[in-house]
Amino acid sequence: MSMNEQSGDAAKSSNEKTCFIKTYGCQMNVYDSQRMEEALAAAGYRPVASAENADMVILNTCHIREKAAEKVYSELGRLKPLKQQNKDMVIGVAGCVAQAEGAEIIARAPVVDMVFGPQTFQQLPAMLDEIDDGRARGDKPKLVRTEFPAAEKFDALQAIARKPVTRSPSAFVTVQEGCDKFCTFCVVPYTRGEEVSRARADIIAEARALVAEGVSEITLLGQNVNAWEHDGTRLDGLLAQLGEIEGLERLRFTTSHPRDMDAALIAAHGDNKKLMPYLHLPVQSGSDTVLKAMNRKHSASDYIELVKKFRAARPDLALSSDFIVGFPGETEVDFAATMALVEEVNYAQAFSFKYSPRPGTPAADAATQIDEAVKAARLARLQELLNAQQIAFNQAQKGRVLPVLFDKPSKSGDQMSGRSPYLQPVHVPFDSLGNHDAAALRGRILPVEITGAHANSLSGILAL
Ligand code: SAH
Ligand code: SF4
Ligand code: F3S
Repeated sequence: MSMNEQSGDAAKSSNEKTCFIKTYGCQMNVYDSQRMEEALAAAGYRPVASAENADMVILNTCHIREKAAEKVYSELGRLKPLKQQNKDMVIGVAGCVAQAEGAEIIARAPVVDMVFGPQTFQQLPAMLDEIDDGRARGDKPKLVRTEFPAAEKFDALQAIARKPVTRSPSAFVTVQEGCDKFCTFCVVPYTRGEEVSRARADIIAEARALVAEGVSEITLLGQNVNAWEHDGTRLDGLLAQLGEIEGLERLRFTTSHPRDMDAALIAAHGDNKKLMPYLHLPVQSGSDTVLKAMNRKHSASDYIELVKKFRAARPDLALSSDFIVGFPGETEVDFAATMALVEEVNYAQAFSFKYSPRPGTPAADAATQIDEAVKAARLARLQELLNAQQIAFNQAQKGRVLPVLFDKPSKSGDQMSGRSPYLQPVHVPFDSLGNHDAAALRGRILPVEITGAHANSLSGILAL
């Protein structure tokens, strides 16, 4: 329901506007899109499921690989005929492509009315007013807002009430923005700016507001979330405080950098009962030569030692990582070292990518670029190994009883879905629920006996 409907103002509700936000990229963009949706809801915009009938369309973009960035322009091509039909439509490009390319986007795609970066979306309602005013005068205003530090964004975030538009028992909370690491392949330090930590009290207040709305699992987000620090408290301390919130049952955080791990955060994986046994800890490569060229500032053995410490603190910890194959100069020997690291660590899940040269990053200029066919062949080999590990990890859950946080019916409509502590999707058929009402399961954590294991999910029956 929009604000206008709530106020019962008939004239205004006939003016009700709609918005559609399409999100690309990482969870930080997912969080930003939710906050944009909340800010727009407060300004009278109701979210709709497609661009077709929307007055405002926002593409919240990702610049991490070439393919991700190019998707934006093909989507803008599809929006063009829609805007020709609805001259009032406002099209915005947000996120990391917006930050990286700024006004160039409007030059390449004149259908775009506003371009704003990840640190400026709190100005959305004001920007919309500016466009409305301009159009009322017969102009076609084009706005580009790609400045402002993250600290200002965090202040503005506090002012937007957390009223999640879609109710899920699981929510993201961004606690840290930006990156100072400058891995030689990566655009993030340029698109998200320097590392900034959000104030502890603000994070706790947002978590409390979410729990009051029915949220029971929170994932703390940051490009380097384990670099979070405020008034001498580090991430382990923040997680301990969040763990005290009644009704908040599960805590997670992502993404961590191996360099920012400390003993207290490792210990928290054994001590903090609400912290889930799943860690996304990207390593990128198993070759020290490549890691050095990537400016990762850790070796393969540093990483393996870290993994051992985590497993000593929490023996059932499930590990996940990101990998890049075909980084400039990567030899067969380097790639074999990555395969060996994967064998040694044994992952529950992982993401792997072909290196994609990004404008403005040092590695893009290296003369030793790897042939696309070689990249593809290495990626296939790596993914085969990672998939086998993931399937083995899922298989190992068979016969166990796992606590599952239930969310909603699965797409097929005949089973309830939730997540295991290890982040695996778990499906429970309706017809096995007995006298339990499917809808009433939402948001509850209940024991499930795992009876089936698949490549990307588990299935089971309630074990009550
Ligand atoms: N902050 C996170 C990663 C953010 S980007 C970290 O440091 O781990 C997510 C993943 O995209 C990276 O971990 C990396 O594996 C991949 N990636 C980043 N830049 C890339 C590029 N130029 N080509 C291919 N993959 C890339
Ligand atoms: Fe990119 Fe490296 Fe920063 Fe991660 S740590 S966001 S990969 S520069
Ligand atoms: Fe992409 Fe920006 Fe996230 S480049 S991965 S959306 S920080």
